[in-house]
Amino acid sequence: MSSEERRARVRALAKINLDLRVLGRRADGYHELRTVFQTISLADALELCYRPGRRCRIEVESEPVIADNLVERAAVLLARRGGLRGEVRIRLEKRIPIAAGLGGGSSDAAAVLLALPVLAGLRLELAQLIEMAAELGSDVPFFLCGGRALGLGRGQEVYPLPDGPAAWALIVVPAEGISTAAAYAELAPALTRVSPGRSIIEFQSWLWSQTLGPAQISETPSNDFEAVVFRRRPALLRLKRQLLAAGAQSALLSGSGSALAGIFPTRRRAEQAGRGIGARVEVAALVSRARYQGWWRRWLRPHLSAGRRWPPQSRYSR
Ligand code: C5P
Repeated sequence: MSSEERRARVRALAKINLDLRVLGRRADGYHELRTVFQTISLADALELCYRPGRRCRIEVESEPVIADNLVERAAVLLARRGGLRGEVRIRLEKRIPIAAGLGGGSSDAAAVLLALPVLAGLRLELAQLIEMAAELGSDVPFFLCGGRALGLGRGQEVYPLPDGPAAWALIVVPAEGISTAAAYAELAPALTRVSPGRSIIEFQSWLWSQTLGPAQISETPSNDFEAVVFRRRPALLRLKRQLLAAGAQSALLSGSGSALAGIFPTRRRAEQAGRGIGARVEVAALVSRARYQGWWRRWLRPHLSAGRRWPPQSRYSR
């Protein structure tokens, strides 16, 4: 095997949840969900270097430094289960706010699962990547394909949904984050109050309205974390109201928070709305699956074999 270094610069996109229902606690301690994930253009940057070799060495550098980095765990999992050997160096530049419900850590992990096999010439099928992704975290499998997707189970079971019309998100990022595990723990006592059956029916109705058009069915999206999170952090409810007053088509907590996402039909409207909000804001486009996968092919192009298979296939594999 040649020992030349192979490099790629990729991005790990953030997600928002366009709707999120938590139905109840499962026997494995996780919570059963119904959600709609959507990739947005806000992203972390990763630089990956790979040098073929017999021994496996993994080095991760991150700015800022993150304890128990999912990037490193993803690379280690590829070494243990995907046959990865050689020298790996990854530099992560965080831009997605942490503990905001925007899936930054999960997306970083999925980016490693997509990029490293291509650089290292590993032939891995989507099913193998989904299995490894689900082991790393509930939100990781979604980022293997991106776009808009239905998430079931603990969120790790993902199915494609049609893209919506072009839209922009105004992301409001409160200074203080929220730990996902803590948010679920706080939600648990409230779960018995709403019947899961009713919640599933409302979720279906909302999802149909997204495809058939709001003219045919009128439904507003919902995030079950809002009730508990807004009770403890009333400032977040005020931010949601501010987004709606500024003309957002919908405004919802993302995941378990603390970020909120307002949806606007144009970038200009989102930017205008952002000027009046007294907190950190980011304007991001909703990114379709075709665009997501097109970007990924572009970032990895020098290392790809011909063909349009997904996940992208390496030109180094034999
Ligand atoms: O799967 P992940 O490691 O991202 O989840 C972080 C934590 O969030 C879990 O340890 C669990 O406490 C909680 N969680 C949950 N139900 C889910 C997803 C996450 O209770 N569906």
